[in-house]
Amino acid sequence: MLEKINETARFLMGIQKTNPQIGIILGTGLGGLVKEIDIEKTIPYEDIPNFPVSTVEGHNGQLIFGKINGKPVMAMQGRFHYYEGYTMKEVTFPVRVMKQMGIKYLVVSNASGGLNPDFKVGDIMLIEDHINMFGDNPLMGKNIAELGPRFPDMSQPYSHELIARAKDIAYKNNIFLKQGVYVGTAGPTFETPAEYKFFRIIGGDTVGMSTVPEVIVARHMDMTCFGVSIITDSGVPGQIVEISHEEVQKVAAAAEPKMTKVIAELIGTL
Ligand code: HPA
Repeated sequence: MLEKINETARFLMGIQKTNPQIGIILGTGLGGLVKEIDIEKTIPYEDIPNFPVSTVEGHNGQLIFGKINGKPVMAMQGRFHYYEGYTMKEVTFPVRVMKQMGIKYLVVSNASGGLNPDFKVGDIMLIEDHINMFGDNPLMGKNIAELGPRFPDMSQPYSHELIARAKDIAYKNNIFLKQGVYVGTAGPTFETPAEYKFFRIIGGDTVGMSTVPEVIVARHMDMTCFGVSIITDSGVPGQIVEISHEEVQKVAAAAEPKMTKVIAELIGTL
């Protein structure tokens, strides 16, 4: 695997000049950040050696190299989800490549269902911790010692320093943010009422279908992580209504400007 990772890293190093230290996974709600990127180069995933191949026609993404607030970034427009049938190793392959390219920070976003009764649909939550409920782990199997330890520490999965900076930025811009624990689950079903209750009881504030694999792999390699989640629907008893992917997208799009503002400013401080 290491050879493939290094081959892809070398390929990408060769086609861009900015040498970013910041990697971004533009999940739901962060699509608007693309407009903040002073783009130097884009490359579709299918043109990148060893990148996972999309099974869904026209559903694949691209890598974007450029600058946000003067800081070189490498952004993934479109991520690989476990529920699409990719293995954990495939889902996290781009993060491995980022590290070998010299990237130190991983910024991720996602959409989630709210479990905390204090959270409203449309709120943005800074992810301070997560619970892996995928029933799988990207580090299963032989450990690659060159990348990180067999038993990685997870005592600070999301950087306290970056959370503090994001809070400052939000405060100065009159943006109100929540903070809490993200439960990552395989999907693709949204939760039953009993499952929402279970995830709340075990300590979750939100639940979604991504982010946890990428952050596990990033922490394995000692990358500094920052994550935000948009609450697109409620899993709180009494507030649960029928949801759809379209509704999730609509709510996320409405919260996007606030999310973009905080993240673009935060990146400027890195
Ligand atoms: N559950 C899981 N994933 C999600 C949800 C949810 O309620 N909303 C958006 N992504």
